Amino acid sequence: MTSTAAPDAVPATDPADHWWEELPAGQGRLRGRAHLHSDAPTLSLDGTWDFRYGTRADGIDLGESAPIEVPGMWQLQGYGAPQYTNVVYPIPRDDPYVPDENPTGHYSRTVTVPAQWNASLADGARIVLRFQGVDSAAKVWIDGIEIGVTTGSRLTQEFDVTDALGSEGEHLLDVRVVQWSVNTYVEDQDMWWASGIFRSVDLLLRPAGGIHDLEHVADFDPATGAGTLRVTAYDQEGTEVEATVEVPDLGISATTGTEIDAGQVRPWSAEDPHLYDATVSTGAETVRLRLGFRRVEVDGEIFRVNGERIVFRGVNRHEADPVVGRTQHLANQDLDVALMKQHNLNAVRTSHYPPHQRFLEVCDEAGLYVICEGDFETHGFHADSTWGEDPTGAAERPADNPMYEELLVERTERFVLRDRNHASIVMWSIGNEAATGTVTDAMIAAVREVDPTRPVIYEQDYRCDHSDVFSLMYSSIDESTQIGRRELSDEYRTKLVHMLRHQGVDAPDDGFGTAEDPAPALSKPFLWIEYAHAMGNGAGSLKEYMELTHEYPALHGGFIWEWIDHGLETTDTEGNRIYGYGGDFGERLHDSNFVADGLVLPDRTPSPALLDAKHHYSPVGLEVTPGSVRIHNRYAFSDLTHLRAEVSLDSQHTWQELQLPTLAAGESTDVALPAGDGTVTTVRLLTRDPAGPVPADHVVVAADHVDAEKRRASVPELEGAVTPERSEDGSWQLGPARFDDLGRLVSIGDLEVEQSYADLYRAPVDNERARTRYPLEARWKRIGLDGARRRTVGVAADGDQLVVRTRLGLDGSKLGADVVERWRGTGQQVEAEVTITPVDFWPKDLPLPRIGWTLSLPGGLDQVEYEGYGPHETYPDTGGGTTFATWESSLQDLQVPYVFPQENGNRAGVVRAVLRGGATGGLELQAPDGLGLAVRPWSTTELDQKLHDGALRADGRTWVTLSAALHGVGSAACGPLPLDQYVLSAHEETFTFRLRPLDS
Ligand code: GAL
Repeated sequence: MTSTAAPDAVPATDPADHWWEELPAGQGRLRGRAHLHSDAPTLSLDGTWDFRYGTRADGIDLGESAPIEVPGMWQLQGYGAPQYTNVVYPIPRDDPYVPDENPTGHYSRTVTVPAQWNASLADGARIVLRFQGVDSAAKVWIDGIEIGVTTGSRLTQEFDVTDALGSEGEHLLDVRVVQWSVNTYVEDQDMWWASGIFRSVDLLLRPAGGIHDLEHVADFDPATGAGTLRVTAYDQEGTEVEATVEVPDLGISATTGTEIDAGQVRPWSAEDPHLYDATVSTGAETVRLRLGFRRVEVDGEIFRVNGERIVFRGVNRHEADPVVGRTQHLANQDLDVALMKQHNLNAVRTSHYPPHQRFLEVCDEAGLYVICEGDFETHGFHADSTWGEDPTGAAERPADNPMYEELLVERTERFVLRDRNHASIVMWSIGNEAATGTVTDAMIAAVREVDPTRPVIYEQDYRCDHSDVFSLMYSSIDESTQIGRRELSDEYRTKLVHMLRHQGVDAPDDGFGTAEDPAPALSKPFLWIEYAHAMGNGAGSLKEYMELTHEYPALHGGFIWEWIDHGLETTDTEGNRIYGYGGDFGERLHDSNFVADGLVLPDRTPSPALLDAKHHYSPVGLEVTPGSVRIHNRYAFSDLTHLRAEVSLDSQHTWQELQLPTLAAGESTDVALPAGDGTVTTVRLLTRDPAGPVPADHVVVAADHVDAEKRRASVPELEGAVTPERSEDGSWQLGPARFDDLGRLVSIGDLEVEQSYADLYRAPVDNERARTRYPLEARWKRIGLDGARRRTVGVAADGDQLVVRTRLGLDGSKLGADVVERWRGTGQQVEAEVTITPVDFWPKDLPLPRIGWTLSLPGGLDQVEYEGYGPHETYPDTGGGTTFATWESSLQDLQVPYVFPQENGNRAGVVRAVLRGGATGGLELQAPDGLGLAVRPWSTTELDQKLHDGALRADGRTWVTLSAALHGVGSAACGPLPLDQYVLSAHEETFTFRLRPLDS
């Protein structure tokens, strides 16, 4: 829809009226209410509006009028620029005031009330103007008359505009949106700062005698299988109105306000998200509801849905899109939920604000447990712009400041009122990282008042004085184990007391209780509200986290941080198309690529972390041995009849159907497998029928057993060894391989080898960079590991071996490694046995990035077939869901385009690989004991130095890295370091590989 008149003037404002800084904020709004699907008419005001942009909230310097899309964010439509900060405020912390320079967008359009509405209006209908999301505050006028002010960027705000639109004809709607307002201080989420009318705007006809608000409780009694239903309808004044409730599939026709016996019902759960269609009608209006009968309870330390303990296999989801930002394409709601379901996720936290309505509807329909979170974060009170501790910040926190109480309690009520009819929401969270105080206590009380049926969680209430569920962020495996055991070490107790104090809470030394008298938290269910920080390559150790949930009933799983990289499409200074992050839009203050930490890349391509999560989140666990498979049914409700099983005894060349027992929820059993040679046994479970967004024949989980000894025994020994021959110039020939006088491999058959060297380096991952808890990159680079130098110690023939001894040295240091290469050859191939021995005084606390070999081959080898673990990348603490087989991939698909370039693409346990393409013929690589393999069109240096994936340049070579050992990736960008077993401490390593040139 396009507005017809471009207004020249905007409403005059009183210079003294600083509505954007006023507390309590918001004027003239209707009380919050449910987002309902009604048969009452609506008129969408989405489309092209007129827009004038300026830098002052008083509108004095607004520019020329130009068209703009609503919904949308103006920074992504050519005005101003997005800015990314995680914790700190992008403006001075001067609350409730904001700087004079305040990017401001003045939106205008004409509105004509449809003539068909007139009859209803004559009967007393009202017209409501609804904004579903305006960032960060707006003043609204109709025909120059003030209507009101919005507050709460991700909250629905409605105004009764009946009188303003009362006269016939065209009316002028003006909406002045400011980027900075008092809301800014309570909406400090870790995401792009961007503004505008970013969710839909509509005009609603509210019939007299209609249903203005509605709440329903559809309870399920797991003991009897019976459902009860209570629906309460309200008019605009909040007074109960009587309406008829119909649920055809249950034969229900009853009145609101009464307890309706629904008889035996099929309950709703994430496993079986059964919804009953219902209508609620007064004579004047009919509202459609989708009912999910379910009961959510906190039962001591157990969180139950329909009587059963639930494990949250979840993720935190922000609303992000590489083109439109927080504005949401409708399709993204369905797509995200489909991807989550297909990857075995069963839960989502709407971090850190109530999402687009459609998202919750899809969660109801497809089955995800939702923690719905309020639009509240004040993290910037805890850090000043130098990232130091700010003593005044904690003390002045809005959580404990009565000045903010009305604003925050109202917005809390508002989001619960909007969303309380969703079956998928099993808990409310009042917000994120905002500390605690009298105001947050009041917010929690307000939630309970509006919806007494669901538990309330607030991570920052560490002691759980008010929360029903205990949760923390980024707890280590060790800390989580202590929580699971209900036994905290003194050290951990002290850490928790410090966390309380950091919030400004005056906590005594025993503030987190004592062993004899623990804090209330330790008697409640626990979950990781955020964990497994999925920034770049990682997070590691999902396996260990999920194992804890099997062991300790109080540990209820958690929510990976986070769903999507928030990269924004843009162009760098060299003209490369890139996904931009903090700093790419000219921001002076920013937090760089910390905004790209999702399970899916900005364009929603699953990153390997999602595939890893799929495996560890699988509702069915498989432990394969050559003769049998142990199956663990980890569903809370379902048996396995909806799945079928297949087994392969030949590295996945052929599959046979395997009889899968029904196996009730929570049970485990062993199933015998057909006899094979026992080398590689693979089992997978697939869906029988489509279920919501999960298609039929979808692999839910796959696992295998590889008998390394048997596999090794099948590799033929090198036969027909030839002896190395030395040429006059000092170079060597050994079978198809040629070495220079320094013992460097320079060609293999027709393939020129530009570089070939023992290598201790890989590009650092995000978890190893400067701002992490484990800044290894700086330490690695300080000792020059990224540019190790080779010194030849000796090159000599020893029988049929060419022995090359070198020393790897690091600039400015005595650190390094001795390398011994023993090359043997036949007419067709060459084999290297390499021993790398780091100096024995290598610092104990400094892991090596990797131990391996690097080859630079001619370019064009763009097709790779490999026998090993695939099809996705694996690092020591990731790679769940990879299985052993022969996989094929293009060179391009072997790369993971992480927004910020870093080590990626390693395939584990590769015993054989064939690289083909180009004019020079191919190469077969063998690694009898299995090695990590990465093949790239660029060097490690390129990966290490470029700042955006889109800036990486192929250099005309094919780079092959073979890794005998790699350092784990961990989660230290915002979480624990790799577990001890994944730390690559310096040690001697011997590995073998073979190279065979192939004809073109
Ligand atoms: C958490 C925070 C998230 C996000 C994450 C780091 O502390 O709650 O919003 O900032 O850290 O990516």
